[in-house]
Amino acid sequence: MTTSIQWAELARAAKAASEQAYAPYSKFPVGVAVQAQSGKIYTGCNVENASYGGTICAERNAIAAAVVAGEREFVGLMVYTPQDQLTPPCGICRQVIAEFFTPDSPVRSCNHLEQQQEWTLEQLLPSAFTPLFLANSKKF
Ligand code: THU
Repeated sequence: MTTSIQWAELARAAKAASEQAYAPYSKFPVGVAVQAQSGKIYTGCNVENASYGGTICAERNAIAAAVVAGEREFVGLMVYTPQDQLTPPCGICRQVIAEFFTPDSPVRSCNHLEQQQEWTLEQLLPSAFTPLFLANSKKF
C-alpha cells in the first residue's frame, strides 16, 4: 500500500514544533514532523542543554515521540528552520532516520521563505549501516 505524504500538513506541523524549540544557546530553532505508515504525524523540536552534548535534535525527538506511540515505519520527514538556507538533518540524525525509513524515503526541508528541498535518505546517507547488518551477522 502506498501512503500518500501530506507535505503541506508536515510543513505546518514542523513549523509549529519549531516554535516550541528550546534553543537558548544556539538560537537555532528546529522543528520536525514525520509521517508514519499509519498516516499519523508526530513532531519534535530541538532541546538544548547547558552541557551542550546533552542537546537532542528535532529529528530524533520527533522519531522518539512516534516510537513511544507504537510506530515503527515511516514514509516521510519534514524539517523546518526559520533560516534563509534550507537545513538538512545532521549526521547522527541521518543514522537514526535510517533505522526506521527506507533508502528511497523522501526527506524534505522547508523554511520561512516557503522554500523546499527534497532528498532521499540514500542521498543523505549512502551505504548506511542499518539493522539488516545485525540481522545477517554471524553469531560468535
Ligand atoms: N539541530 C537539529 O535539531 N537538527 C538538525 O538536523 C541540525 C541541528 C539543532 C541542534 C542544536 O540545538 C541546533 O540545531 C544547532 O546545532
